[in-house]
Amino acid sequence: MLFLRRLTKKRICFIAFIGFAVFCVEILIYKWAPSDDLNSLIPLEVRLCEKSESASLDCRLLAQQDAKQLARAKCIFQERKQSGPVPDSHYIHSTRHCDTFIRERGYLMNPASVEERNFPLAFSIRMHDNVAQAEHLLRAIYRPHNVYCIHIDRASAPIVQTAMRSIISCFPNVFVSSLYEDFVYRSYSPVKADLQCMRQLLSTGVVWRYYLNLVGTEFPLRTNLELVRVLKRLNGTNDIEMEEFPDYLRFRITYHHFIFWHDLYRNLFWWKRPFPYSNVTIYKGSSYNMFSREFIVWLLGNHIAMELIDWSRDTHSPDETVWATLNGMAGAPGGYVVNSTASQMYLSRAVLWRGDVNSTCQGALIHNICIFGYRDLKWLMARQEMFANKFSISYDPIAYECLEQLLWQRVHNPDPEHSVDWEYVQKSIDKRKRTRLPG
Ligand SMILES: *[C@@H]1O[C@H](CO)[C@@H](O)[C@H](O)[C@H]1NC(C)=O
Ligand SMILES: *[C@@H]1O[C@H](CO)[C@@H](O)[C@H](O)[C@H]1NC(C)=O
Ligand SMILES: *[C@@H]1O[C@H](CO)[C@@H](O)[C@H](O)[C@H]1NC(C)=O
Ligand SMILES: *[C@@H]1O[C@H](CO)[C@@H](O)[C@H](O)[C@H]1NC(C)=O
Repeated sequence: MLFLRRLTKKRICFIAFIGFAVFCVEILIYKWAPSDDLNSLIPLEVRLCEKSESASLDCRLLAQQDAKQLARAKCIFQERKQSGPVPDSHYIHSTRHCDTFIRERGYLMNPASVEERNFPLAFSIRMHDNVAQAEHLLRAIYRPHNVYCIHIDRASAPIVQTAMRSIISCFPNVFVSSLYEDFVYRSYSPVKADLQCMRQLLSTGVVWRYYLNLVGTEFPLRTNLELVRVLKRLNGTNDIEMEEFPDYLRFRITYHHFIFWHDLYRNLFWWKRPFPYSNVTIYKGSSYNMFSREFIVWLLGNHIAMELIDWSRDTHSPDETVWATLNGMAGAPGGYVVNSTASQMYLSRAVLWRGDVNSTCQGALIHNICIFGYRDLKWLMARQEMFANKFSISYDPIAYECLEQLLWQRVHNPDPEHSVDWEYVQKSIDKRKRTRLPG
């Protein structure tokens, strides 16, 4: 008896030890810590300006890779970098008088065109740091008749939260998401944040037509009017990136994942059951899309859609699975299925990946995605998507400022018939039409 008990104890210890070891090994295997710190990246090549070069930069010519402007950008780069960005705390004082803040920052407060007002949009912005950049983004997309939901990561610094809330409090149609949680990269967090914003935006009373989810590090390539024209052409169809689920990423949905110390890990010894509805094809897509209002109303009220979202909780990057999969479900308003043989020409995001066959990132690569530098402006200006991902004011203020300047020029001198490549947009829409789902 005693012997048995000792053995059992030993066994328990042994099993516990093995369990602990396995846990440690998993953590070690999947502890992947690429540097997120832009300051640790190799700085762009710099040199001092010569006297003749200190005049201001011409962003249009810079975007055309004009040699003189490239030289000028190179020499003013360091100076710009040192002066900015505006510290987060600045926004706490500057928003004390909202009227002054709004006027000085040049928000568009006058009613937009009738066409835009007849087609309101809903946006969400997910952010965790760099208030200045989120504010520039908000200013670029802000129109008094649209609605905006801002999700601030609970793990962000208190100053970030206070500053962002101060900005938000100046606008009646911008509000904070009531989801207050730590954001965990590659986890279920972004899906949860989107669901919360979708619900809040639906309850505003504004009958917006499309929902666009953004992160603070993105910037629009289109003005609100251009966006409205494109979305009107989409005529209720979503723009949700999707492709057949690639085999090399299948681990994302076949293993149980768990959060440990603010990171997501895969449990190699815990297989995940497939989604019980075998008539639902799991697709791979992007987190950032353009969703029709009808699609969102449908998914929030559809029990299979909700079961899918719930099923995705312990998968890897569920945001890159659920929207695409829902879009491919029979009955999804505005949905379609992919035709894997042809490039889909999505309109939502311009992202420059490492290894892109046609272009090389001229900025910095983080998680294989380009943080745009000013030499990428040419690439950006040639893109037909609505937003670009991603920027960092502190890494390259020139790329950001120039894109912003070029956008505002089109806001003040609108010419959507010429500033959008309608042939491209139509081709993109025609691709969906061929594979449109009934319902
Ligand atoms: C837009 O959608 C409506 C309803 O789904 C349809 O009747 C109409 O023909 C569509 N218009 C175009 C231009 O496709
Ligand atoms: C899948 O099958 C279930 C029944 O098993 C049915 O209720 C549902 O409508 C089907 N969904 C799709 C997207 O075909
Ligand atoms: C590269 O360029 C070619 C020709 O312009 C185009 O067909 C192809 O889709 C591009 N590839 C990517 C990944 O953009
Ligand atoms: C898929 O794309 C190819 C090439 O563009 C086209 O010939 C085919 O008809 C498409 N299939 C569907 C189902 O849309």
